[in-house]
Amino acid sequence: MCGIVGILGKSGENVLPSLLNSLEKLEYRGYDSTGIALSNGDGGSIIRVRSAGKLFNLKEKLQNMEVSGSIGIGHTRWATHGEPSEKNAHPMISTNLAVVHNGIVENYKKLKFSLENDGYIFTSDTDTEVIAHLIQRELFNDFSPVEAVQRCLSVMDGALAIAVVFADHKKIVAARRKGSLVIGFGEHVMCVGSDIGTISQLCQEVSYPEDTDIIEISENDAVFFGANFQKVDRPKHEVEHDPCHELAETYSHFTLQEIMDQPSAIRKTMLYNQNKIDESILEGVNTILILACGTSYHAGMVAKYWFEYFLKIQTNVEIASEFRYRSPIIADGTLVISISQSGETIDTLAALEYASSNGNCKTVAIVNVKNSSTDRSSNVVYYAEAGVERGVASTKAFTAQLTILASLAFCRNWFLRQQLQNIPTICEAALSIGDETREVARIISKSSSAIYLGRGNLYPIALEGALKLKEISYIHAEGFAAGEMKHGPIALIDERMPVLFLCPHNELFEKTFSNMQEVLARGKNIIAITDAEGEKNLPSDVRRLVLPTVCSAVAPIIYSIPLQLLAYYTALELGTDVDRPRNLAKSVTVE
Ligand code: AGP
Repeated sequence: MCGIVGILGKSGENVLPSLLNSLEKLEYRGYDSTGIALSNGDGGSIIRVRSAGKLFNLKEKLQNMEVSGSIGIGHTRWATHGEPSEKNAHPMISTNLAVVHNGIVENYKKLKFSLENDGYIFTSDTDTEVIAHLIQRELFNDFSPVEAVQRCLSVMDGALAIAVVFADHKKIVAARRKGSLVIGFGEHVMCVGSDIGTISQLCQEVSYPEDTDIIEISENDAVFFGANFQKVDRPKHEVEHDPCHELAETYSHFTLQEIMDQPSAIRKTMLYNQNKIDESILEGVNTILILACGTSYHAGMVAKYWFEYFLKIQTNVEIASEFRYRSPIIADGTLVISISQSGETIDTLAALEYASSNGNCKTVAIVNVKNSSTDRSSNVVYYAEAGVERGVASTKAFTAQLTILASLAFCRNWFLRQQLQNIPTICEAALSIGDETREVARIISKSSSAIYLGRGNLYPIALEGALKLKEISYIHAEGFAAGEMKHGPIALIDERMPVLFLCPHNELFEKTFSNMQEVLARGKNIIAITDAEGEKNLPSDVRRLVLPTVCSAVAPIIYSIPLQLLAYYTALELGTDVDRPRNLAKSVTVE
């Protein structure tokens, strides 16, 4: 949620092109507005250019301007305080500095009041502007840039990551408090970014600041200040290039590339974890508690079916943003599993922190992004090796999460582990129904609403299918347990309403089929997603998408695929911005 970048050129070269390149990689974190600020750190003025909307607008604006600087910061915004407008776009400026910020200053009203009393004039509605003026106030008091940032942070509440440039210092000062931040060491530049993908093209090594670190970046080094403002060493890691950052020529959207990448993502996830996930993690475990949000929460819901059925361990799945506000009880012997693609979702992090400090429990993180805050806060980490996900709607990370959860759930069952091994190949076959999903997508795109139904471990997949459709096509969609229709939602059915049934020929087929009859009696627009055996039983007037036959246990992974394709092709029909849907951000770092 909001992306920040800072680049300091070592030999005075203009960093603007690199900043724009990095901002492109950051756009998935927010696209309500973008902005850059450039300085040479020689006492000249700071140049700031901002624009409402996506990066494209900023680039257009810059085309008619001649701006350059050897030190720069950039920002992509997901609006929290203040509407998405140019006035509220970062960087925020105070006399001699500019700042970009990801996070929220919770006590900004009090701080603003004190700054206004000191004569500071605010020109935006953002909380970030207080950071700029607070640091400036300390600079006027003769503190050095890094001291000024430290003094500013000491009076601020909230989670954040910031980067600051100065008119008269050849430095960038960055800081993190719960927000994500990476420092990059390159041959030609020093840099800082919200994630490694933002800066990996610029540097050969990176360091990950710890929580509450402040970092003073100059031409040849980065000095880290840890607890009590003492200098500390943070290890450097070599940068590995991830090809997922680039869009292959064959695809017009990252979302489709990522959907199609699933067989490989699942294969890599299994390979990476094959010797890591085993029964030992379950020793002494009486209960499993899963914490997650959004799509990751749906993965957790599937896991509940798996864990209770195959491991016989009671499992609760909690929406992380609700969890800690009802004082839940964490029983001894609880295994807490947090699931997060980004590893930076603040709701999930806060729920995990609550569980760790209120119970005697083991914590496991299932994360896609390495070196994230979630993996640093957990006893054990299982990485989804899905690679970078650039589409805001999560697809391959979801099936990779399911793969990890299935590996754990099936750890006592040789047969199912074998079934899991076949999943990448079956996914390839499932992906080949793309053209048929296009037909159905055309129908859905003409509706203002759609209903997704499933039973058993496919009920969470119905929820996920509906979420995907909402996110990228903006069509209202709801997922229900198929058996729940008659208890209310069936009132929504009329002749036009598309109703998608997830109905493989499994032990629940007859039940789901009866629910289909109930809908058929009232509606005409039914689409069944089934397998060869299921298809034989369908009435002729039911549209169908036929998937390869799989055992019920692994069906959630396979049945996710047509729903992702449906959402994608529906969005394509409607011409939405598939990779960057309105109002969303990839990494949700505010509560
Ligand atoms: C997925 O398509 C969504 N954009 C969203 O629901 C996401 O899953 C949620 O915000 C949780 O993110 P995380 O997995 O990075 O924690």
